[in-house]
Amino acid sequence: MTEYETILTEQRGRVGWITLNRPEALNALNSQVMRDVVAAAEAFDADEGVGAIVVTGSERAFAAGADIKEMQGKTGREMIMGDHFGAWARFADVRTPVIAAVSGYALGGGCELAMMCDIILAADTARFGQPEVNLGVIPGMGGTQRLIRAVGYYKAAELILTGRMMDAAEAERAGLVSRVVPASDLLDDAQRTAETIASKSLPSVFAAKAALDAAMESPLAEGLRFERHVFAALFDTADQKEGMAAFREKREPRFTQR
Ligand code: CAA
Repeated sequence: MTEYETILTEQRGRVGWITLNRPEALNALNSQVMRDVVAAAEAFDADEGVGAIVVTGSERAFAAGADIKEMQGKTGREMIMGDHFGAWARFADVRTPVIAAVSGYALGGGCELAMMCDIILAADTARFGQPEVNLGVIPGMGGTQRLIRAVGYYKAAELILTGRMMDAAEAERAGLVSRVVPASDLLDDAQRTAETIASKSLPSVFAAKAALDAAMESPLAEGLRFERHVFAALFDTADQKEGMAAFREKREPRFTQR
């Protein structure tokens, strides 16, 4: 397995793990972290032995945001011409489902990284926020766009305009978090959830993720049309025949398309 500077990677069964590993900076997301996470996620995405990916941090911090020390001295021109956060789009584009397992701080870019994932599992210790306004900037890795879609305008506006943090329970009530679990169970729960996804038929998992993405990005009629076509196309897969036969025969399906 490739060695990275700022993350640890590991494969457990059919699950690829990416663990942010800059404890001295509460996993602040500098350019090297971006390069490492993108490369690891794309490598897992291309690996037929991997059916789901988990991204996590440490107990204290999922990630405390983009690296303020790296950005501080830059000019606006440098930020634009260097496309400072641009490569994160490649992480959001991986086809394999990604679970964020969040413990501790998920602030700024950390919260935005979690929102690039498909499922957000939060330890009861997790704290989410977009505190960029306290630094004289605004969210720059998707926060103003994805947080609104997750929690609605008024909740997102209050969080982004005040920069305050919310705890895991509030984040779950708001719809930012898929599920809150005891901190001691977070990683096991993430592995179990990822294994469940990885045990399904790959064409249907990829199709479901693509349709969910379409819902985020397109008007309702277009999304519904996309869903109907993809739903129909899955009827040409062996796994659809197997899944429906297994239901009728009252047994577990044996999916072969992985
Ligand atoms: N960038 C760089 N370094 C960071 C960092 C960040 N985002 N967050 C924490 N660190 C560093 C601290 O500077 C400190 O390093 P030193 O010991 O060398 O000083 C170390 O991590 C530990 O942090 P603290 O001593 O501050 O720990 P704490 O427990 O007192 O506070 C915290 C924790 C509340 C999370 C606090 O560290 C904090 O407020 N961090 C910044 C949060 C933030 O503003 N995030 C948004 C960044 S901008 C952004 O993300 C833009 C975007 O949209 C992409």
